[in-house]
Amino acid sequence: MDRCVLSVALCLLISGLMQSSAFEVEIKDDSNVTCLYAKLMVNFTIQYETNTSVSKNVTFEAPSAVTTNGSHCGSDDKAPLLLVHFGDNLSWSLNFTRNDTIYSGSVLTVTYNTNDTGLFPDGQKRGFLTSTTQFFTPIPLNTTYKCIHSEVISAVNVTLLLWNVTLQAFVQNGTYGKEFICDADKPSPVPSTTPSTPNTTTPAPTSKPVDKPTAGNYSVSNKTGKCLLAYMGLQINASLLVKDQKTWVLFNINPNITNSTGSCSNESATLRLTESGTTIEFSFAIKKKNFYLQEVNVTLINGSGSSSSLNQNLSFWEASLGSSYMCRKEQIITVSDDLHINAFDVRVQPFDVHETFDTAQECSLDDDSILIPIVVGASLAGLIVIIVIAYLIGRRKSYAGYQTL
Ligand SMILES: *[C@@H]1O[C@H](CO)[C@@H](O)[C@H](O)[C@H]1NC(C)=O
Ligand SMILES: *[C@@H]1O[C@H](CO)[C@@H](O)[C@H](O)[C@H]1NC(C)=O
Ligand SMILES: *[C@@H]1O[C@H](CO)[C@@H](O)[C@H](O)[C@H]1NC(C)=O
Ligand SMILES: *[C@@H]1O[C@H](CO)[C@@H](O)[C@H](O)[C@H]1NC(C)=O
Ligand SMILES: *[C@@H]1O[C@H](CO)[C@@H](O)[C@H](O)[C@H]1NC(C)=O
Ligand SMILES: *[C@@H]1O[C@H](CO)[C@@H](O)[C@H](O)[C@H]1NC(C)=O
Ligand SMILES: *[C@@H]1O[C@H](CO)[C@@H](O)[C@H](O)[C@H]1NC(C)=O
Ligand SMILES: *[C@@H]1O[C@H](CO)[C@@H](O)[C@H](O)[C@H]1NC(C)=O
Ligand SMILES: *[C@@H]1O[C@H](CO)[C@@H](O)[C@H](O)[C@H]1NC(C)=O
Ligand SMILES: *[C@@H]1O[C@H](CO)[C@@H](O)[C@H](O)[C@H]1NC(C)=O
Ligand SMILES: *[C@@H]1O[C@H](CO)[C@@H](O)[C@H](O)[C@H]1NC(C)=O
Ligand SMILES: *[C@@H]1O[C@H](CO)[C@@H](O)[C@H](O)[C@H]1NC(C)=O
Repeated sequence: MDRCVLSVALCLLISGLMQSSAFEVEIKDDSNVTCLYAKLMVNFTIQYETNTSVSKNVTFEAPSAVTTNGSHCGSDDKAPLLLVHFGDNLSWSLNFTRNDTIYSGSVLTVTYNTNDTGLFPDGQKRGFLTSTTQFFTPIPLNTTYKCIHSEVISAVNVTLLLWNVTLQAFVQNGTYGKEFICDADKPSPVPSTTPSTPNTTTPAPTSKPVDKPTAGNYSVSNKTGKCLLAYMGLQINASLLVKDQKTWVLFNINPNITNSTGSCSNESATLRLTESGTTIEFSFAIKKKNFYLQEVNVTLINGSGSSSSLNQNLSFWEASLGSSYMCRKEQIITVSDDLHINAFDVRVQPFDVHETFDTAQECSLDDDSILIPIVVGASLAGLIVIIVIAYLIGRRKSYAGYQTL
């Protein structure tokens, strides 16, 4: 895709064949020094009104042939602006803000022309419409932001899916800074190869680039109301190609930007969670009087391709119908050799839902809290039995001794 800049015509040809293209832009100041650089892939989804007044979504990829008229490097009282035109009828602008340590995008604006019959063949002709939203990822100053994973930016009627992003604003002296890798791309913590130091008083802090995921509330509704309830924190651990090398990559599912859908019947229930390019589908089944998690299907969209991992033979999260299942501890669900889900703070009820969760049946992993009192109680009871027996034996001996006397 590097060649896109060199030969727009060739790139158009290639992208037409590959259905996937990056665009690359570089904005220079008056003295011909680069101040802004961006290279990324974008999918637009625009909801528009058709000429029969129904809402319809159209999704298309940003073409690689772009112009940047109107972009500028900014000045002391003006924020730098990246304005990208995809032909005459679609454009995208983003201005940037900074302080002494970080910079970030500020306001993102998408402008599109509903009169464009190429984009909206059956659209109501309403001319140019704009949609704006915040785009805020704090990036250390003098570094280049890199993110291969996709991220979703939602605005009114417009959803942008960005991936393979390379971006730097406030480029100093025309020199790009070192890379700043987004959280989603960070590989999982590698076990340290340095010899361990077991004899120090404090354990060496382990590097932990990915935090425990935030748990989110999810639900599925049907005609009669909520029919599946779930609360959980999810982390995907997947073996992906990073720089042509299979690497285990760990990333969290952020409940704030996760959509939940699904379906319920009296014999099966499905919860489908979608975050950016990741879709996780949990399917529950019933055996005897219990429900359980039978199937998980994870789909990762990576650029133009997607890959699914499926396991239809699980038996996790089992509890009796009419109750909910709960597990606070981390559980590892192996979906495939290449993909695991680490689940935290799980509570689910896929059947017989009334408004809120019913009584929880806790997983055995959580039981050690009750186990300790049980062990203590059992040993106390044992002790008492031993004392009583010892006492009885003692009494008997003395009684017997008395009789022989
Ligand atoms: C800016 O630099 C490029 C090469 O880096 C050169 O081709 C171009 O002519 C320069 N433009 C101006 C206005 O100096
Ligand atoms: C279009 O997509 C958005 C976001 O993905 C969704 O909220 C909306 O319901 C969709 N509209 C239609 C008509 O499918
Ligand atoms: C970006 O542009 C919007 C208007 O398009 C403006 O409200 C906002 O203040 C600008 N951001 C910065 C950092 O100047
Ligand atoms: C820059 O902004 C970030 C985030 O808003 C803030 O945490 C940081 O303290 C700011 N730095 C300075 C020097 O103002
Ligand atoms: C960024 O680079 C400029 C010029 O090289 C330097 O003056 C400035 O201190 C740097 N800022 C940070 C936060 O590294
Ligand atoms: C910026 O570039 C100019 C000329 O290329 C050079 O003289 C100057 O030392 C550079 N400044 C920094 C901070 O790198
Ligand atoms: C810890 O190190 C001290 C000396 O530094 C040594 O005397 C002691 O035996 C060590 N303890 C263990 C458990 O290795
Ligand atoms: C991810 O999976 C790999 C391979 O099974 C494993 O070595 C690694 O510890 C896992 N990481 C986490 C944080 O679960
Ligand atoms: C979700 O949003 C809340 C409130 O806007 C925020 O406090 C929280 O940090 C967000 N969580 C994540 C994981 O982004
Ligand atoms: C599921 O519901 C349908 C229609 O309500 C009913 O005919 C069927 O017997 C039910 N199945 C079970 C296993 O309860
Ligand atoms: C798994 O999910 C993908 C994407 O949603 C779908 O295409 C595929 O059919 C699903 N597989 C099964 C067995 O449900
Ligand atoms: C990301 O871009 C690089 C070139 O910049 C390309 O080789 C790679 O295939 C792209 N990855 C995806 C997932 O599109």
